[in-house]
Amino acid sequence: MSSQSRRDFLLRATASVGLALSAATIASLVSGCEQDETAPEQPSGQTYTVDVSAIPELAAAGGITLQSITGLNGGDAVFISRLDQSTFAVFTSICTHQGCGIDLPADAQSNCVCACHRAEFSRRDGTVLRQPTSGSATNLQRYAATFDAQTNILTIRT
Ligand code: FES
Repeated sequence: MSSQSRRDFLLRATASVGLALSAATIASLVSGCEQDETAPEQPSGQTYTVDVSAIPELAAAGGITLQSITGLNGGDAVFISRLDQSTFAVFTSICTHQGCGIDLPADAQSNCVCACHRAEFSRRDGTVLRQPTSGSATNLQRYAATFDAQTNILTIRT
């Protein structure tokens, strides 16, 4: 190989490596940008327990409460809704539109309404029922929950 062709080869090889590194760097940056920054940070595989007998709002089916549970939902309160004697739904109180805190339902027949732009979510499971006045919201993040009727302990899992 002449010194000229060797030089051309090295230039082309260097350019290819540069392109490969650039593509990898760009892919890394893009994937970093694709992370949902609105999702609360919390470790997965954690369990949290709640003594339901200590919360009067949950004494009967249809009851709902807002509770702050250390370590769950990034420190923000969650709704706990009693669906029947042995079934509960647990979902975030942080609006999926622009992150405002959602209020407890005004009465036993109402749903959860976000005061910022009026999005409405089901009191039973956080499903979006009415979109905000502009833009859109999605269902509220829900957590797995099981209830032990013997002990009145609700176990929430992430
Ligand atoms: S932040 Fe909740 S409706 Fe806009």
